[in-house]
Amino acid sequence: MPDASAQRAALEALLEFYVEAGVDCALDEAPQDRFAEAARPASAAGAAEQPAPRPAALDAVPNRRSLAPAAATSPDQAAQDARERARRAASLQELEELLASFEGCALKFSAKSLCFSDGNPEGRVMIVGEAPGADEDRTGKPFVGRAGQLLDRMLKAIGLDRGAVYIANIVPWRPPGNRDPTPQEVAICKPFLERQIELANPDLLVCVGGASTRELLGVKDGILRTRGRWFPYRLGEREIRALATLHPAYLLRSPLQKRLAWRDLRALRRALDEKG
Ligand code: URA
Repeated sequence: MPDASAQRAALEALLEFYVEAGVDCALDEAPQDRFAEAARPASAAGAAEQPAPRPAALDAVPNRRSLAPAAATSPDQAAQDARERARRAASLQELEELLASFEGCALKFSAKSLCFSDGNPEGRVMIVGEAPGADEDRTGKPFVGRAGQLLDRMLKAIGLDRGAVYIANIVPWRPPGNRDPTPQEVAICKPFLERQIELANPDLLVCVGGASTRELLGVKDGILRTRGRWFPYRLGEREIRALATLHPAYLLRSPLQKRLAWRDLRALRRALDEKG
């Protein structure tokens, strides 16, 4: 039996390996061998689906209840439920409440917080990013980490701040390990976002990054081809203008591209000034 310090060193090495591999949160209280489950015959697998008893303390942690509700619903049912809930919401507050009690997206169960929005819903500009990261998950607000701080500086350069813009994401829960949200997760959350845009009713929409541009504007080209272009976005009875631009997280990695983002920001400023 290894002594305590050797055990500790082995555990630390294992945790470091997990972090490097992008595994940064536990989804359940006991390890699950999915390979063994897949190899088991169907009848035995049925018995294995019975959930293990859960420690009561786990239920006290928001969102960390069980993966079962999302898994028990098919993606089509989840998307249908999302559409019905989104349609029912008569205000942004109601929409947030309906989203908070929605159990159709598995991301909810690995995230700590729902990151519904930040900024001013009365603002003339609505900005939509991709997904919350670790800092957003901790605080429950979109764009508060390094990318968010760069976004603030970008807005400041054209005389805007969070009092003048409303901010949301394609998915409102952090994907584990900051992976990209899957197309299924995006599709399930989309009715909520579309309703959020409708209820916020901005004059201009800004899609930051490829994911947001693809999802909201239906553009297939990559963001480097699309950025700087305006697209129509249907908002109930009217059509508003939507600008595609680079994601601040990308600009942190590729600072030379900030000159392109600056062009887009100036175009946004002009559009605001034109509309008065
Ligand atoms: N990146 C996003 O797209 N959204 C956030 O909220 C933070 C980082």
